[in-house]
Amino acid sequence: MAAMNNKTMSIILLFLALFSQCYSECQLSDLKIEQKQTGAKVKGKQEWRAFIVTDCICTFPLVVLNCSGFQTVEPIDPSLKIQGKLCVIADSNPITRFHPVTFRYAWNSSFLFNIVGGEIACP
Ligand SMILES: *[C@@H]1O[C@H](CO)[C@@H](O)[C@H](O)[C@H]1NC(C)=O
Ligand SMILES: *[C@@H]1O[C@H](CO)[C@@H](O)[C@H](O)[C@H]1NC(C)=O
Repeated sequence: MAAMNNKTMSIILLFLALFSQCYSECQLSDLKIEQKQTGAKVKGKQEWRAFIVTDCICTFPLVVLNCSGFQTVEPIDPSLKIQGKLCVIADSNPITRFHPVTFRYAWNSSFLFNIVGGEIACP
């Protein structure tokens, strides 16, 4: 009976190990930034909407973008905090597969945001 329990236990542990290995595979490179024109104009500039999306299973509670040279004539969405040359996204509702983070800005061309840091939380 005891041997049976040990075997069951090791199957459960193996199963958990396989699962956590799968979870730890998410990286910052699993985040993608997509941008679209909204079609609106703000003070004569195109309005853009950026989406930060992922297909990976982990949660991304903090994402840092390089915002060096970023400009907008529209007040920036509260989900994006500009701190010097960096933009920090630390929404109370973090980025997951089911919840992209989105923000809008207005300028005459889209800005190429690069992800320079962040946190990944895996279950
Ligand atoms: C941020 O972008 C600027 C302009 O493209 C670049 O010169 C700088 O090296 C970048 N910084 C980081 C941390 O990637
Ligand atoms: C973008 O807007 C700025 C400021 O209004 C202007 O100086 C510049 O010529 C514009 N660039 C283009 C490509 O329209």
